[in-house]
Amino acid sequence: MNVTALDHPLAAHYLTVLRDASTPPAMFREAAVSLGGLLAVEATSGLQVSQIEVTTPLKSTVGHSMSSNVVVVPVLRAGLGLLQPLLDLLPASAVGFVGVARNHESALPEQYYVNLPHPVETAIVLEPMLATGGSLAWAVDAVKQAGANQIICISVVAAPEGIAHMKERHPDVRIVTAALDEGLNDSFYIVPGLGDMGDRLFGTM
Ligand code: URA
Repeated sequence: MNVTALDHPLAAHYLTVLRDASTPPAMFREAAVSLGGLLAVEATSGLQVSQIEVTTPLKSTVGHSMSSNVVVVPVLRAGLGLLQPLLDLLPASAVGFVGVARNHESALPEQYYVNLPHPVETAIVLEPMLATGGSLAWAVDAVKQAGANQIICISVVAAPEGIAHMKERHPDVRIVTAALDEGLNDSFYIVPGLGDMGDRLFGTM
């Protein structure tokens, strides 16, 4: 499985804003969008383009046009925080949704909603907190069932446990993250992490 951790000063800056427990929701959402844009650039680096001819004001030359048919799939609800920067770069994309809630005692994913276009070819799955990996693995199952044959997962913070789970369940996907953190605590939160991403985005602490 291909895992890329961003190494960029702006990514480090916005990640720090997200980690800071005193960052209020409005600033948290802005930082998520900025970091999401940087993650999106890296995550889309392998997408297919086709060569086209383009005529500048001076002459004809070779240009490129996006030919991948991409579906962006935020895992509800925290994935919504990364959706806008993906759509800014890929405005023609369809958006599919998967809803997975984590059972706070077992940490097992419980699915409650799936709405994906058919067929999916390339899917970019947005799961900001790759903790146990259960929710992301389940979301990837769903996009594979919808036909996806190229799958890129974007996370903000990834724990080794989540990476290991994804390697076992879905070795064919690519993961792009802003940070590889230490691990999970007894409540399955990523440490040092940034807390509950959904609560921090939407002010439901
Ligand atoms: N989900 C979160 O929002 N935060 C974590 O640390 C783990 C899962």
